[in-house]
Amino acid sequence: MRAFSFFLLAVDSFCRSIRFFWCASCVFSQEIQQKVRDQTMCSVLKDITRVMEKIYGKDIYPFEESFLQKTLEKRLSLTSINNFTTYSGYLSENITEAEALFRALTITYSEFFRNPLTFALIEQLIIPVLLDEKGKSGRSEIRVWSAACAAGQEPYSVAILLDELITARGSTVSYRIFATDFSATDLALADKGVYDFGAVTNVRVKHLREFFTTTGEFYSIAPRIRAHVDFSRYDLLDVDLFHQTIQEALDGK
Ligand SMILES: C[S@@+](CC[C@H](N)C(=O)[O-])C[C@H]1O[C@@H](n2cnc3c(N)ncnc32)[C@H](O)[C@@H]1O
Repeated sequence: MRAFSFFLLAVDSFCRSIRFFWCASCVFSQEIQQKVRDQTMCSVLKDITRVMEKIYGKDIYPFEESFLQKTLEKRLSLTSINNFTTYSGYLSENITEAEALFRALTITYSEFFRNPLTFALIEQLIIPVLLDEKGKSGRSEIRVWSAACAAGQEPYSVAILLDELITARGSTVSYRIFATDFSATDLALADKGVYDFGAVTNVRVKHLREFFTTTGEFYSIAPRIRAHVDFSRYDLLDVDLFHQTIQEALDGK
């Protein structure tokens, strides 16, 4: 009986060892596969970046790698191409695909108070600190740059918070918001400041009442908020223009 038990234990331990080696080799091979995939992806991304620069004159290198990868995977699926190398070849001969890829990389979705946690920080921490500092330094204007403002939802959200907190404190500090985007279509919408219900679902009821007017199903930003926001066209990839436009606007020149 003891010998039999010993035999069973030995078999059990043998099976465990096999299982261990099998699992370890799986993990090992998965790691290698991931590394190979990453390296391939890197060289593919470089290749596609080169093609975009050459045929479309756009440098897509500054986009975050994981976002670039996800967007490319979507384009592959939409064009029914099953690997990146073939896609790169297709792209180099197809300006329409270059346009489609660039459009996909520059999606324009936005809404008021889009990321509630970020706006909570702006409201609870950043604006109060700025108001304190402005009060101490005697400088009377807060300047904000909304760097890719889409149709105005982001800069108007910041303006609403600034307006409310400045009024609540009875502060004399004023504010200006410089809002830029490279999409002329979005800037035209921003200029109008009219939104459907989907864009304002995160807006508190008291803010809706105070800072918007409604016409049918549409919500228009109040003129007194609109008056604090300047919209202009600016491509974030155009580093040279930064000093002449944004920096000067922020410095108040
Ligand atoms: C997803 S929307 C985000 C809008 C807003 N910042 C928000 O978080 O709700 C991205 C915006 O970035 C703009 N954009 C993308 N690339 C840009 C670039 N190179 N220069 C300026 N704007 C750009 C797009 O036109 C679009 O309006």
